[in-house]
Amino acid sequence: MVCKISFPDSDHASLTLDAHTPLADTLTVQNSPILFGCRTGICGTCLVSVIGDVSPPSPDEQELLDVLAPNHPNARLACELDITHDLKICSHESSDTSPDRNSV
Ligand code: FES
Repeated sequence: MVCKISFPDSDHASLTLDAHTPLADTLTVQNSPILFGCRTGICGTCLVSVIGDVSPPSPDEQELLDVLAPNHPNARLACELDITHDLKICSHESSDTSPDRNSV
């Protein structure tokens, strides 16, 4: 199955990937709208918000998400996503609509 991955808050073109293709294998330093660090689910650099049907995080990923983005159910580590459906991936900050960030 081919999945379409789009990045609505960037100029980056959508990608089409075979299901279960790791994003961190496809997106390189040169072409990625997502900043990656370790690419193994440890550093948290690739924190994003994901819209779409995606499998739940592993216990290790959830532990890090609880620290980095508590109460953000759409927050995920891009390097840990198991892609099985079309997804929209946004930077984590741009999807934060909490009142604190809107009042300057
Ligand atoms: S790049 Fe380090 S957790 Fe994803």
